[in-house]
Amino acid sequence: MALQLGDDVPDFTADSTEGPIKFHEYLGNGWGVLFSHPKDYTPVCTTELGRVAALKPEFEKRNVKVVGLSVDPLDSHKGWAGDIKDTTGHALNFPLVADPDKKVANLYGMIHPNASDTFTVRSDYVIGPDKKLKLSLTYPASTGRNFDEILRVIDSLQLTAKHKVATPSDWKQGDEVIIVPSLSEADAKQLFPNGWKTVKPYLRLVPQPK
Ligand code: BEZ
Repeated sequence: MALQLGDDVPDFTADSTEGPIKFHEYLGNGWGVLFSHPKDYTPVCTTELGRVAALKPEFEKRNVKVVGLSVDPLDSHKGWAGDIKDTTGHALNFPLVADPDKKVANLYGMIHPNASDTFTVRSDYVIGPDKKLKLSLTYPASTGRNFDEILRVIDSLQLTAKHKVATPSDWKQGDEVIIVPSLSEADAKQLFPNGWKTVKPYLRLVPQPK
């Protein structure tokens, strides 16, 4: 069965551009993003890997380790890394897993046979410190991902893991948030002593908690 939200994500050992990686051990007690690519030396993937390299400080600020994966061998990844730096101006600065036997791709369900029975699709998995799946996204090979959106979701996941709030459509850092509907008025008064705006009894807005 496909990996679902709340599941423990599979552990694996594999070669990567930064040496052998034991996935769970590598993530440690922090957050992780594992994202797959259809193939090395392809244009969309090249732009994506450069973009993630540029955003690495943003992931680090959030205590997130990023790991890429493509089903080509390590030698191919190493050659391609030069092109990524030349074309995007950003050198790979995170591990790109080599998965030529598709062990990890199959473990995570990254191959969608009706799209392609050989390439991985563009899968993204956001993993919490408890090694459980917090978000999954799947894009087709022809559409490059928006990694600012992945960061935005991580901000929401990290905020809602700490506070009894949810984030509305298109929310970004600093915007108002929603008090979870399951929180009673009495408990809400304790947690949000400065009050909130009641739009509907089930839609209560408060400033983003610090
Ligand atoms: C790309 O990354 O550009 C790509 C990969 C596989 C199929 C189509 C595009």
